[in-house]
Amino acid sequence: MEQFDVVVIGAGAAGMFCAAQAGQLGCRVLLIDNGKKPGRKILMSGGGRCNFTNMYIEPAAYLSNNPHFCKSALARYTQWDFIELINRYGIAYHEKTLGQLFCDDSAQQVVDMLVKECELGQVTTRLRSEVMSVEKSGHGFELALNGEKVSARSLVVASGGLSMPGLGASPFGYKLAEQFGLNVLPTRAALVPFTLHKPLLEHSQALSGVSVPALVTAENGTHFRESILFTHRGLSGPAILQISSYWQPGEFVSINLLPELDLLGFLNEQRLAHPNQSLKNTLALHLPKRLVEFLQTLGQLPEATLKQLTTAQQATLAENLQNWRVQPNGTEGYRTAEVTLGGVDTKALSSKTMAVNAVPGLYFIGEVVDVTGWLGGYNFQWAWSSAWACAQAV
Ligand code: FDA
Repeated sequence: MEQFDVVVIGAGAAGMFCAAQAGQLGCRVLLIDNGKKPGRKILMSGGGRCNFTNMYIEPAAYLSNNPHFCKSALARYTQWDFIELINRYGIAYHEKTLGQLFCDDSAQQVVDMLVKECELGQVTTRLRSEVMSVEKSGHGFELALNGEKVSARSLVVASGGLSMPGLGASPFGYKLAEQFGLNVLPTRAALVPFTLHKPLLEHSQALSGVSVPALVTAENGTHFRESILFTHRGLSGPAILQISSYWQPGEFVSINLLPELDLLGFLNEQRLAHPNQSLKNTLALHLPKRLVEFLQTLGQLPEATLKQLTTAQQATLAENLQNWRVQPNGTEGYRTAEVTLGGVDTKALSSKTMAVNAVPGLYFIGEVVDVTGWLGGYNFQWAWSSAWACAQAV
């Protein structure tokens, strides 16, 4: 049986970074993945340019049953530490918006960097490798892989969540957690587009491809001001993906389609200047024409000129446009979700090292843990920070 100090399961963002760091600290590390390539999600991320971190990382941008859990790791290995690594490799990057940092060229550069870091740590990588079983032994763990057995003092589970099964996502990490008596909190697709109920869906399909800046608010009051996108399945765009993490089935979301505008003031101004202008053409000064027509087919805009518009109609209009209440039918699910909410309950883990307190040598890092970030580089930063914290301890 081949012996290692550390076996890391999952060659994604967290697993590769942890393996590289542990290797560079002198551990003999085996990194295994069921896929034929490492870092498959990194390659797909950020539209192929990998939004690898965010300049404004803060614990408040993470959802977890224990909102304090992420603090220690994020403080010990920060976005600035990762940016320093990116700089060291000469990878050019830019801020797209809201502190989100993307490669100028390609996400492949981040994967290549992590592969190089693993080489520096003399990490042994086995791809297309399935873990058939994991047993606790006197000195650590014994793993049966397809075709061989290996043992290690420490076992790091970095097998990710359930989003995008096409990219290798599996419930492996949750099952292993349960095998060792850990609680796994219910999982849910997050950072995911909404699907809509039939009548609204049919209307909105006509708008497919239209994107507008909006303020979207969940029933618990959480809100995001970014764009929304109409799609042939429902609603997407950054503001919708963000709010999906805070939405529960059956709930409504409120969409303000004119978040920057004092609508009543604008209508009064326009009425004085152009009393015979139609409401439709007036609103088209601030909203895409197709969207205005869509709102009219939904019965949310009266067919009137500005001088015909009554005070009551104006108030209803403001409500319809600035507090448009939509009840999603559901989400597109794990097939298109960027992340998985829930997962391994942090109660069982050390926030400093990601170690399972009750099982010496066992660690969980990255998305498999019940820590989920906002859209915008927050999830990769959690992967890097939790991996680094773990690597110092294995
Ligand atoms: P990750 O899922 O990356 O890796 C897990 C690895 O474990 C996979 O390689 C998988 O094959 C392997 N594995 C699973 N089961 C196994 C088993 N039984 N045996 C062996 N191996 C197994 N975040 C962000 O911050 N910025 C961004 O731009 C994006 N963009 C983005 C786009 C898309 C399309 C998706 C799906 C996701 C994002 N994300 C993102 C989220 C980000 O990709 C995610 O949070 C991290 O990849 C999580 O890293 P992990 O290493 O924890 O899991």
